[in-house]
Amino acid sequence: MDFNGKTTTSLAEVAKQKEYIELIKTVLSVRFPERAPKAYVHTYGCQGNVSDSERMKGLLQACGYVFCDKPEDADFVLFNTCAVREHAEDRVFGNCGALKPVKEKNPELIIALCGCMMQQQHVADRIRKSYPFVNLVFGTFAFHRLPELLYKVLCGRKRVFEISENKEPVVEGLPVYRDRDVKAWLPIMYGCDNFCSYCIVPYVRGRERSRNPEAIITEAKELIAAGAKDITLLGQNVNSYGKGLQDDIDFPRLLRKINALDGDFMIRFMTSHPKDCTKELLDAMAECEKCARHLHLPVQSGNNRILKEMNRRYTREEYLNLISYARKVMPDLSITTDIITGFPGETYEEFLDTISLVREVQYTSMFTFIYSPRKGTKAAQMPDPVPYETKSRWMRELLAVQEEIAAKRTASMVGKVYRVLVEDETHEKDGRLTGRTGGNVNIDFAGDSSLVGQFCEVKVTQAGNWVLHGELLK
Ligand code: 5AD
Ligand code: SF4
Repeated sequence: MDFNGKTTTSLAEVAKQKEYIELIKTVLSVRFPERAPKAYVHTYGCQGNVSDSERMKGLLQACGYVFCDKPEDADFVLFNTCAVREHAEDRVFGNCGALKPVKEKNPELIIALCGCMMQQQHVADRIRKSYPFVNLVFGTFAFHRLPELLYKVLCGRKRVFEISENKEPVVEGLPVYRDRDVKAWLPIMYGCDNFCSYCIVPYVRGRERSRNPEAIITEAKELIAAGAKDITLLGQNVNSYGKGLQDDIDFPRLLRKINALDGDFMIRFMTSHPKDCTKELLDAMAECEKCARHLHLPVQSGNNRILKEMNRRYTREEYLNLISYARKVMPDLSITTDIITGFPGETYEEFLDTISLVREVQYTSMFTFIYSPRKGTKAAQMPDPVPYETKSRWMRELLAVQEEIAAKRTASMVGKVYRVLVEDETHEKDGRLTGRTGGNVNIDFAGDSSLVGQFCEVKVTQAGNWVLHGELLK
C-alpha cells in the first residue's frame, strides 16, 4: 500500500508499535497472572475524539486489556480530552482531580491524559506541576504510539510527557475497537488549515492530512461486512479531503466511491466548511442514493462583519445561496448547523442577523455555543466588552426561535412515512425502539428488539416536545 509515497515510515511505525504491544503483553502477564488487566477510557469532545479513542482502545485490547465502566475498577485510566471550549477543559481538570483518591487507594493505577487539551504546552505544564499522580501525557500527534508510551511508563516508573508535533503521514494498519456495530465513525482526514479566529483546533491538531483512499475504502468494506448501517465520514473539514495526496481524488469523488460499495447502508459526513462546500459536492450528494439527506453546515454567524472577524471566508449571502442550491437538488434535505453567540465585539444588532438567518434557513437542529476565549487564538486578543450574562440572554433568545422552528417541523412530519434505521431500545426498555431518519430526526415506536440494526418504515403519529412517536409499518 502507498501511504502518500511514505510507505516505509508508516509501515515501520506500525511494526514498532506491534513490537511494543508484545512487550506490554509480557509485562502484564507477569503483573496480572490471575486476571486480565482493566482499562477505563473516557472521551470528551467531538466525534473525531471518539474515533481516536476507538483506535487507542484497539491498541489497548491488543495489549491484553479488557474495558471497565468505572475508574475505581481500572488498572489503567485514559482521558481523551477536548480543548474547544473552556468548559470542556474545566471538566477534565475536575475529573482528573477526582482521580487522586482513586490513585491513593490503588497506587499501581496508571493514569494517562491525551488529546487536544494536552497538545497545549500550558496545559501539559499545569498537569506536570499540579497533578503529580498523572503518569502519562500525550498529544494528538502521538495517539497511535500509545503502546510505546505506555511501555515506558510500565517499565520506567517515570512520568512520560509526549506533546511534540510531527508531520508524519497518517499511520494505517493498527487495530480498532468499536463500541457499536450499527453506527460507525470513519476518519478520512486529520487536522485543520482554516484558522477561524476563535478556534484552537488548528493549533492542537496540526495541518490537514488526508488518509489514502484505498485505506478508507478497505475500512468502509470491513465496517459494512461487520454490520455497519450508518457510516459517518469524519474530518475537521471534509470538503478539502485529498489535498496533498498523490491520488487524483477529492471529497465528491470519495463519496461516489463509497456510495458504489455493495450493501444496504447510509453515508453521512461531518464537518463541511461552507467556504469549500461546492455545487459539485451537493450534486454528488444528490446523486448518491446511499448518502443521507442530511447536511451539517456550520454557519457560526449570520452577520458579514462577524463572519469576517471570524475569518470564515464566506458571506451570509454566499451561505444562503449554497443552502438554496442544496435544497433545489435535494428538496427533502435536512440541514443542521453550529452557531457561536457573543463573539468578541458582536453587538445585539449583529446577533439579530444570526436570528434572521436561522429563521430563513429553518434548520432541523443546531448546536449553539457561547464564545469561549482560547489562549493563542486571534479572537482571544480582541476586545470583548459584552458581559457573559448578556451573551447567555442572546443564546436563550436564539434557542427560543429554534424551538419554534423545530415544533413546526415536527408537526409537519405527523402522518408521513419515513425510512429509519433502528438504533436501540428506548431507555425505559418498555417495548419501544428508537430509530433515526436519514435527516437525523429521532422517532420512537413499538417494536421487537430484533429489529435493532435494521432499516424499517415508520409512520409518524404524534409530535412530542423532543421526540417523535410513530408506528411500525414494515
Ligand atoms: N468558543 C465557542 N464555540 C466554539 N467552537 C469552536 N471554537 C469555539 C470557541 N472558542 C464551536 C464552533 C464549532 C464547534 C465544533 O464548536 O461552533 O463549529
Ligand atoms: Fe474535537 Fe476540536 Fe474538541 Fe479536539 S478541540 S476534541 S478536535 S472539538
